[in-house]
Amino acid sequence: MSLDTTAIAMSAPPEAPAELVAWVSGVAELAQPDAIHWCDGSVAERDRLYEEMVASGTFVKLNQDLRPGCYLARSEPSDVARVEARTFICSEREEDAGPTNNWAEPAEMKRTLARVFAGSMRGRTMYVIPFSMGPLGGEISRLGIEITDSPYVVTNMRIMTRMGTPALAAIAAGADWVPAVHSVGYPLVDAEGNTRPDMTWPCSDEKYITHFPETREIWSYGSGYGGNALLGKKCYALRIASVLARDEGWLAEHMLILKVTSPQGRVFHLTAAFPSACGKTNLAMLRPTIPGWKVETVGDDIAWMRPGADGRLYAINPESGFFGVAPGTSEETNPTCLHALSRDTIFTNVALTDEGDVWWEGMTPEPPAHLIDWQGHDWTPGCGRPAAHPNSRFTVHASQAESISDDWEDPAGVPIDVILFGGRRARNVPLISESYDWEHGVFVGATVSSEQTAAAEGTVGSLRRDPFAMLPFCGYNMADYWTHWLRMGERLGDKAPRIFQVNWFRKDDQGHWLWPGFGENSRPIEWALRRVDGRAGAVDAISGRIPAPGELDTVGLDITAEQLEALFALDPDAWAAEADLTEEYFAQFGDKLPHELLDQLASLRARIEATR
Ligand code: OXD
Ligand code: MN
Repeated sequence: MSLDTTAIAMSAPPEAPAELVAWVSGVAELAQPDAIHWCDGSVAERDRLYEEMVASGTFVKLNQDLRPGCYLARSEPSDVARVEARTFICSEREEDAGPTNNWAEPAEMKRTLARVFAGSMRGRTMYVIPFSMGPLGGEISRLGIEITDSPYVVTNMRIMTRMGTPALAAIAAGADWVPAVHSVGYPLVDAEGNTRPDMTWPCSDEKYITHFPETREIWSYGSGYGGNALLGKKCYALRIASVLARDEGWLAEHMLILKVTSPQGRVFHLTAAFPSACGKTNLAMLRPTIPGWKVETVGDDIAWMRPGADGRLYAINPESGFFGVAPGTSEETNPTCLHALSRDTIFTNVALTDEGDVWWEGMTPEPPAHLIDWQGHDWTPGCGRPAAHPNSRFTVHASQAESISDDWEDPAGVPIDVILFGGRRARNVPLISESYDWEHGVFVGATVSSEQTAAAEGTVGSLRRDPFAMLPFCGYNMADYWTHWLRMGERLGDKAPRIFQVNWFRKDDQGHWLWPGFGENSRPIEWALRRVDGRAGAVDAISGRIPAPGELDTVGLDITAEQLEALFALDPDAWAAEADLTEEYFAQFGDKLPHELLDQLASLRARIEATR
């Protein structure tokens, strides 16, 4: 039985502004939930939802002696990742979505959404989640309201955003907010009143993850997983925020944020863009192997950056938690992260041990003798199936990482000295190289490529262009986005951060990794920071400026001179071939391609020729 208008209005807290109540009422009239709950973000509310989800089978309560405050959810096998093919930018004009996005005509998509959302919450509670991306009240921060019929989403949003009464109070005080509507698309009652039992992971085969850049709305239907459903993350903080940033003169980026302190006590901040599944969480929690250097975490996935009063670029992490990939996280690869997961964590699609603890591939060298896999089936080593899904996740509050920086919640943000662009490249791209200037850095960012990831669905192993690691996340035409970056560079002038390209994934001709990665990644970063300080030598090369011989600190590193040379080898033929591919890639953007990028391509070709 659905609610009437009076009951809907009565559900609202007294401080909720009329405009918000009217919008919530409209969504409720469409989706017809049985009840409405306005989330206050309290611990009591969270604990009640946890209990309800344990009772319904959505959550398995883990052994509370081993993992206090921890729960495990298992999704449907059809709902395990972001669905890029079902993600749409519904701008008025198709050219504003550009060739790299799926475009849908907004009025048409609204009709489709009206159809699928009609009655989609029958038999369920509709939750209203006020949230802030970024510290509450901060100048760079922004507000939103997510409506969802998933208690799993509510409890994840509580970790990932500043969710609850204070965000509602800020909205009541007049701040702008982005409306975001989500339904798993599995009503428990049909139009005739027939009921059906719930699933432990309700979802729909039909999925729509939609963004309306002009009206700044998000509507997501059919999936309960990650970025499809936690709408503050990719949908708001990247796709909608990139449009806000274009219009308002700032940057919304798929970048982690680090604070690095030198042995002399000099503090640097850097941001880094990596395509999904390139070890971003590991870099965000890096333990440097170079003595005396300290690395602290400000953010692991997204950076919102604005020029400050002093003309420098300041970044905040709009999120308050980490929604990271579990497999591969171990005492060796990322002890900081592993320790953060020892309590108060939601795990999704990892394996369950006989003791009621979690396990995933790579967590320990030897797997346990028996597990329950991510689909709830018995699992033994050698059975031929992964125990945890490759895109299984943890949701944990950022403050639980012992590496968290004391300035991670500074509402003014942290001043950025260096921007890194990384991809997963077996060949061609050197360990580190510094861009000649901002324009060259934008060219490097625009041409980043990487291998496919599970999060991005599709075949693992094939190479795809992922400009600025924003391919699935830019809410408007990618070529206009590059123009926006070029204009930001002009505005920042000599206060602009220095831009570097890194590649931890280079292989030799036999297919062996050339670089050990993880904590050793502090070495190229240290070189970059010494460059900023004017204390590190470099030589001009095809890709940019690379460390002069002896300038990369390799003391104590088990690496041969040949390996080091191979890490920086730049083959003119291979680079010329790649330049041709870049020209082809750029062609799809037609007249929108900023001429500066063609100029950069010409300069690259000139550098290639000069080495022959
Ligand atoms: C993620 C991603 O952060 O896919 O989950 O980029
Ligand atoms: Mn990401």
